[in-house]
Amino acid sequence: MNRMRMLLIAMSGLLLTMGLVTVFLFQTHPAREDEEVMPTFYQDIIEVDNPDSLDVLVNKNYRLPADYEPSDLVFLDVPLYNKDENNEANYLRKEAAQALKELFEAANDEKGYELIARSGYRSYETQVMLYDRYVKEDGVEVADTYSARPGHSEHQTGLTIDITSDSVHGGLTETFGETDEGKWIADNAHRFGFIVRYPEDRVDETGYQYEPWHLRYVGVETATSIYRDQLILEDYVLNVMKQTSFLWD
Ligand code: DAL
Ligand code: ZN
Repeated sequence: MNRMRMLLIAMSGLLLTMGLVTVFLFQTHPAREDEEVMPTFYQDIIEVDNPDSLDVLVNKNYRLPADYEPSDLVFLDVPLYNKDENNEANYLRKEAAQALKELFEAANDEKGYELIARSGYRSYETQVMLYDRYVKEDGVEVADTYSARPGHSEHQTGLTIDITSDSVHGGLTETFGETDEGKWIADNAHRFGFIVRYPEDRVDETGYQYEPWHLRYVGVETATSIYRDQLILEDYVLNVMKQTSFLWD
């Protein structure tokens, strides 16, 4: 073998190695980044220190103190699924309750829709009972797709409400999202400070099935920003708010 041939073989080997290294880096980089961004549900848990804040993040990694109860819960002044005054589900924090009234009135004035409030505030103790029941019925894996573990439910904030309408017979069902009322809610709730918290296209990141009925109050400015940029609350609190606070620090 002459020198020229050996040089060519060595150069081909080098080029092949460089190619393989490049392919390896490009293939693995996004996966690594993903793992860093997405914490494992219920593994890394942080207790929030701002439970009264309108933008408090409560999810499978951020939990409320077990003894957290909002101090300004008021009885809802909107059509209710179950009118019992002793039912905690008929209460929300004052600002959210007023915004819900305005949302329901706008749905009625603008479109003639009759919305119904079904489940608002839920104490830690109620969530213990509910989650335990669901685990017994469906097992942990399935229960975790639709019910929060105690301390991890947004309903405990008093800023969250499950709504429905007669068109789905008062049910909390995915088909609510396909009704005229559900579509109007998806496109208008932000005007009153609410977001559809668990959208259909972000199930992997929220960790919950699509819930077109579950609204979370965050205030008009935040809700409008989340709606406009098609975000979830995680994007807003963990990315947008962090960047903004960095600018002001
Ligand atoms: N269904 C929602 C995820 C909850 O249990 O809070
Ligand atoms: Zn809900």
